[in-house]
Amino acid sequence: MSNTAGLRKRNKKDANSNTPSLNKTKPENNIPRRSLISSKALYTVLTVAIAVVVYFNSAVVRSGLEYIIDQWIGFSDEWDSAPGTSSGGMVQFFADKPKQKAIVDAFQHAWVGYEMDAMGDDEYHPLSQQGSNLTSAGGIGYTVIDALDTMLIMGLDDDYKRAVDWIDRKLSFDRDANFSTFETTIRVLGGLLSAHHLSALVSHRQTQNPMLLDLAKDLADRLLTSFDTPSGLPLTYTNLGKHHGVADPEWPGLVGTAEVATLQLEMRFLSVLTDNDIYWKKAEQVMSRIKAARLPHGLASIFMSINDGIFVTSAIRLGSRADSYYEYLLKQYLQTNQTEPVYRDMYDDAMDAIHSHLVQQSPKTKLYYTAELIPEQNPAGEISWRLTPKQDHLVCFLAGSLLLGATTTGALVRPVSVPPKPEELSDKGKRDWKTGLELLKTCLRTHDTATGLAPEMVHFRIPSDGMDGSALAPDDWYIKGARPGDPAAFDARYILRPETIESLFIAYRLTGDLQYRESAWKIFQAIEKHCKVQTGGYASIINVDQVPAQQEDKMESFFLSETLKYLYLIFSGPEVLPLNQYVFNTEAHPLPIFDPVYQTGFS
Ligand SMILES: *[C@@H]1O[C@H](CO)[C@@H](O)[C@H](O)[C@H]1NC(C)=O
Ligand SMILES: *[C@@H]1O[C@H](CO)[C@@H](O)[C@H](O)[C@H]1NC(C)=O
Ligand SMILES: *[C@@H]1O[C@H](CO)[C@@H](O)[C@H](O)[C@H]1NC(C)=O
Repeated sequence: MSNTAGLRKRNKKDANSNTPSLNKTKPENNIPRRSLISSKALYTVLTVAIAVVVYFNSAVVRSGLEYIIDQWIGFSDEWDSAPGTSSGGMVQFFADKPKQKAIVDAFQHAWVGYEMDAMGDDEYHPLSQQGSNLTSAGGIGYTVIDALDTMLIMGLDDDYKRAVDWIDRKLSFDRDANFSTFETTIRVLGGLLSAHHLSALVSHRQTQNPMLLDLAKDLADRLLTSFDTPSGLPLTYTNLGKHHGVADPEWPGLVGTAEVATLQLEMRFLSVLTDNDIYWKKAEQVMSRIKAARLPHGLASIFMSINDGIFVTSAIRLGSRADSYYEYLLKQYLQTNQTEPVYRDMYDDAMDAIHSHLVQQSPKTKLYYTAELIPEQNPAGEISWRLTPKQDHLVCFLAGSLLLGATTTGALVRPVSVPPKPEELSDKGKRDWKTGLELLKTCLRTHDTATGLAPEMVHFRIPSDGMDGSALAPDDWYIKGARPGDPAAFDARYILRPETIESLFIAYRLTGDLQYRESAWKIFQAIEKHCKVQTGGYASIINVDQVPAQQEDKMESFFLSETLKYLYLIFSGPEVLPLNQYVFNTEAHPLPIFDPVYQTGFS
């Protein structure tokens, strides 16, 4: 996930820099604040799931949605030691309906709060019960569109209809203001494309509405103007109303690597839908630039030059401004059904580099994590790199991504077993599988806090950190700047992020191991306990180690599009949005895998 997914989710400052005063808006109509899911909606959940199964793979339909695959797994000794393989080998898949219902209830609690207080506004502030727009030029449906496909997947017909009705009557992209090219693509374009696709599948709904695709095309045509640069790398902002790209005044001449390399799944799918290769070509040009700009070690720094299309000396990490670059290397390969080897090669190269340079283990319990490389310049102008044991919550996407990569790029057979057998994977596949499971274990360990929620950033112990001997010295990881009695450290927040849950979803689908459901359920309960706002919505909390938790007045739209969707899908049967038929964009919008219609234009 997600991700600027890194940048996107982190950079509150960017997102809010043009936020006008928060005007209290009146609810548009009378929506009951606490509308529980009706039996009709539950029926619809089932119908949707069945429709999806039947449409895609009639061979998979067995007796209803619930079935168990009895499959014993033979592990080598090496594999026995890997986490996630300890369940004794029984792979279990079934829809857990009570838990799904609890998650649907949570979605409705979040949505109804937003709809009452802020319908149509880009962002929601659940404590003050009001909305705000990203810019003073008016909203672009940021939250409504981000939430659409979750409603379809959960079978929330009525909510979906009201949301589409709002889009029909009120939405406009004709806003003379600067919008993040990246965030707008992953949340709004991605949301429109997946809702268009899913609504078309569920024919009884009669919402196969050309409107969503028309809007996606309108938005993409505006966004494409930001690609008009010497390198073809898109500018950080797009003035949607005036149709032109806008450079980031904070970083003149630069663009974030994740920002330019996390638009491709969306643009490519739009080309397929519209039979117009312009989107595909513009997005692919970026990837060709990035390939040509390869650094000797194979890693990507977080900034590139707009004019030359080369990497500029800047931090190297898997977190913000870089994360979803790696995610989309894999997913571009998967999106065209593993037919474009250039993306597999770029992905392999990057994963080799990550293992050689960034993967580390903590001193005591040998937790895997990925460190950051920070460039430092001495007075003579020479650059050296400092390895920093800091890991963003965002990096937890990598656990699932490695597992998905291991069973595709690292597979010797297709499809692999669930879970994969060692002999089905290449050496790199085995390496990535193991690292993915270990990283997921680490991410789960960062939930060992007073609230059970993981902080925004953790640091791992290293010998030179000077903490040894202190009574408070932790064994393995800690939140920097967190001291008893002090105000909460910035790193101590939980802002409703999805990345650990996303990786739990992938891990469960690829192993059938119920321990991943159990972990997800614990996290969900912690969210219910600490983030839920009684009047509606869910809030971020400012310190994961403080109970009762102190809430902060913000519900990110990715809580609706990612966190609750992945939670719901963890408790679904494996036939709902199967991983061999869908890629999820970095905002968790599922897009179908297709056989390619265009040839890759570079190698
Ligand atoms: C957000 O923009 C929409 C569309 O222009 C407008 O109707 C709404 O009042 C704005 N909301 C706020 C809180 O300013
Ligand atoms: C967009 O950003 C540019 C560069 O920072 C600035 O000059 C311009 O005024 C902004 N446009 C709007 C409509 O805010
Ligand atoms: C992807 O390729 C496989 C193997 O060639 C094929 O069986 C499958 O139907 C393809 N899937 C899609 C969605 O095109």
